[in-house]
Amino acid sequence: MSKLRIMSVFGTRPEAIKMAPLVKELAARPEIESLCCVTAQHREMLDSVLEVFSITPDWDLNIMTPRQTLSTITSKCLTGMDEAIDALRPDMILVHGDTSTTFAGALSAFYHKVPVGHVEAGLRTYDKYSPYPEEMNRKLVSAIADLFFCPTEANRQNLLREGISEGLFVTGNTVIDALKTTVSKDYRFTTKLLNELPYDSKKIVLVTCHRRENYGAPMEDIMAALAQVARTHDDVELVYPVHLSPVVQECARRHLDRIANVHLIEPLAADEMHNLMDRCYMVMTDSGGLQEEAPALGKPVLVLRRETERPEAVAAGTVKLAGVAYDDIVRMADELLEDPAAYAAMAKAVNPYGDGFACRRIADAVLWHFGLGEKPEDFHS
Ligand code: UD1
Ligand code: UDP
Repeated sequence: MSKLRIMSVFGTRPEAIKMAPLVKELAARPEIESLCCVTAQHREMLDSVLEVFSITPDWDLNIMTPRQTLSTITSKCLTGMDEAIDALRPDMILVHGDTSTTFAGALSAFYHKVPVGHVEAGLRTYDKYSPYPEEMNRKLVSAIADLFFCPTEANRQNLLREGISEGLFVTGNTVIDALKTTVSKDYRFTTKLLNELPYDSKKIVLVTCHRRENYGAPMEDIMAALAQVARTHDDVELVYPVHLSPVVQECARRHLDRIANVHLIEPLAADEMHNLMDRCYMVMTDSGGLQEEAPALGKPVLVLRRETERPEAVAAGTVKLAGVAYDDIVRMADELLEDPAAYAAMAKAVNPYGDGFACRRIADAVLWHFGLGEKPEDFHS
């Protein structure tokens, strides 16, 4: 019997980190030929992940341009996917999360009548413009997908409430599978700065910020608040690998260049990022992925957004919504930096997002869909 051709489609850094362990799990199954199509919505940041996980794509749409718009990303992905699907003839396409690549990948699969599996399905804020455009992307993918790999039970409940009741699996988030392969206590960084940071004598605050809905006034406030936090705490070293978006680069450098205890650095490779997180004091971020990773490593997170589609770690007490207002961010950072009890209450390892076996469940579910195996048991936190 010929093998099932399962094609994973991704294009940005977070999708790549979260799909990499799945591409490998699929490749390890004798019944499956694991195919990989990248849109390269991100270029350098994607290539870095491909290198860390030793993945060579079967197809590369190479669409990225500086300051790309949502329409150009979507239209270039759609056009490019036609050729990829015709050439690679997948039996199923897997997309991840909520980016423009995700939406265009799912829509293209639908146009070719190829079934779609949605990895990281069911996350919602129910605010169409926040996160923007991700909330709409993931809702549109829910309308197209055949299989839904929900990280948590709450994500499954969201889909049930929307009338989606077939093809649902609770798998855990594949990012926890990825973390298991990257973090180690004796890890050596590639740069002198990260190897020689005073992890024991100072508080290393790890920062990232990139969301489109934060462009403009919210991002100005966030960066000003970060500058204030660094300036008012001698015992802090703020490490910020700046996203390559020119909008973010410009804003971050204007507020944070020339502050002695702020380190604006290039985006980090995934393994470096995960190990830096493992050694830091706390995380301040508007990233989705960091909200999932840091709790697993026992690191408190202040989320630089007004809402989150990841309420599980907030409920567990390791993540707090700081919002995007200057005063709120400074006040909440001050509390975590100055009040040992407040810090201790948040600095505990919790695993609401997975047990490291999400990819195994997803591969099992794909085989089950094609009548080639047992239905996997759901993940319970
Ligand atoms: C995208 C996703 C967002 C995800 C984020 C992860 C959409 C609409 N947005 O947002 O959901 O959270 O990725 O990081 O899908 N750039 C480079 N090199 C790179 C990557 C980006 O130069 O390797 C620059 C380019 O100028 C590019 C810009 O960053 O035009 C923005 O990239 P884009 O993918 O459009 O948006 P992100 O903010 O990265
Ligand atoms: N990440 C990384 N290097 C960096 C910043 C982030 O490898 O310099 C990783 C991070 O650990 C997480 C993922 O990228 O796995 C999150 O990506 P991002 O914040 O860009 O997107 P989001 O998760 O918000 O969609």
